Amino acid sequence: MSGDDLKKRAAEAALEYVADNTVLGVGTGSTVNHFIAALARIKHRLDGVVSSSEATTQRLKAAGIPLVDFNSAGPLPLYVDGADEANRRLQLIKGGGGALTREKIVAAASEQFVCIADQSKLVEVLGAFPLPVEVIPMARSHVGRELLTRGGQPVLRENFVTDNGNLILDVYNLRILEPAALESELTNIAGVVTVGLFARRAADVLLLGTEGGVRKLLPDSAPSK
Ligand code: 5RP
Repeated sequence: MSGDDLKKRAAEAALEYVADNTVLGVGTGSTVNHFIAALARIKHRLDGVVSSSEATTQRLKAAGIPLVDFNSAGPLPLYVDGADEANRRLQLIKGGGGALTREKIVAAASEQFVCIADQSKLVEVLGAFPLPVEVIPMARSHVGRELLTRGGQPVLRENFVTDNGNLILDVYNLRILEPAALESELTNIAGVVTVGLFARRAADVLLLGTEGGVRKLLPDSAPSK
């Protein structure tokens, strides 16, 4: 089975969390694209969807799924999104697609965050995937220096501007032993808009597509390593 088939498995399983006549938040990426395709089959039962990116908005429109403006939506019962890495506490690295800021905002406003991914995304320690950091363009060098002093190796994402008009630094060489503390620390650097660590607001459920079916993980309460 291909990685994409495993993503589709996880995405299909997330439909079970969608309640009738509600507005839900939808993330960004190839796994979420499978979820949008599944959601299209039950769109008549939805009040609408809050989108986390321009790319997802285009997909939702093409599927005929009604969009709801985030500022009019109020708190959301559910957010469904993918991840680049997840640990057993369901803390995530996100932002491989560059949509981390809006994703973090919608996740923060949602009661339940269901993360969908293929089995390759589950790791013991976060950080093998370079950590995306969205920065204000004028702060790019300053933030880069600050990341270097913390042992990271920041690389500017080439030819990429976020939906918010900002840049992404992908930070290599991090072994993230305390995700929530690092999220707070990096978020406090002047010029950082959003860090792609979703640790303070982790996922509540992780649906992993595996060869044997969909594995459902709830957050492990043991300290992450
Ligand atoms: C986009 C994201 C995605 O959820 C993440 O990159 C995973 O993508 P995919 O589902 O394509 O593997 O955070 O900003």
